[in-house]
Amino acid sequence: MKFFIDTANLTDIKKAYKVGVLSGVTTNPSLVAKEGVKFEDRIAEILREVPEVESVSAEVTPDAVTAEEMIAQANELIKINDYDKNITIKLPMTLAGLEACRYLANKGVKTNVTLIFTVNQALLAARAGATYVSPFLGRLDDISEDGVQLVAKVAELFRTHNLSAQIIAASVRHPDHVTRVAMAGAHIATIPFSVIEQISKHPLTDQGMDKFAADWKKSVQ
Ligand code: E4P
Repeated sequence: MKFFIDTANLTDIKKAYKVGVLSGVTTNPSLVAKEGVKFEDRIAEILREVPEVESVSAEVTPDAVTAEEMIAQANELIKINDYDKNITIKLPMTLAGLEACRYLANKGVKTNVTLIFTVNQALLAARAGATYVSPFLGRLDDISEDGVQLVAKVAELFRTHNLSAQIIAASVRHPDHVTRVAMAGAHIATIPFSVIEQISKHPLTDQGMDKFAADWKKSVQ
């Protein structure tokens, strides 16, 4: 399973990129709004900062409701992609979003269909030519459903039917989600930097380092 970072915060993106574990970035209108920056400018900055990742998801804005409006926005976003071929157009899981997805996929543009909450939605998105599908597990857990189970079922379905869309486990909230979606067959988990930090740590690692440091002081130098 690969790691994407789920943020529009440049500092966090740079920190994760430096560690060398980052394969992509996902953003959404809420994450961009939180940064208080112009959407297109921030996408351009991200693309410039992480030139070697496979995908930077830029989501069409909520005022694009029809497929034509989404495609028009996608065409503008693609123009920002001077730096590499890694921009991915993120589209909502609606009939219009699927129509835009098919159109863009036929043009060779990478797409990520977002806000997926059922296996059927994932199947439709894959059949519309999505490069990535994003089931939101945390938000399902929030309403007492099993988000990881959804990822497992989508992974099984894609294997059974030989569907090439990659599953991005989204709305990942904590380390246990990461482990469980990796075991469930997600191709990617998109996670905030705080979770990247959390999964890098263990108290025994810290204790071990303290002990090595203490013993080293006693050794012959
Ligand atoms: C994924 O692409 C979304 O940006 C994200 O994972 C949403 O997560 P949330 O439910 O924590 O807002």
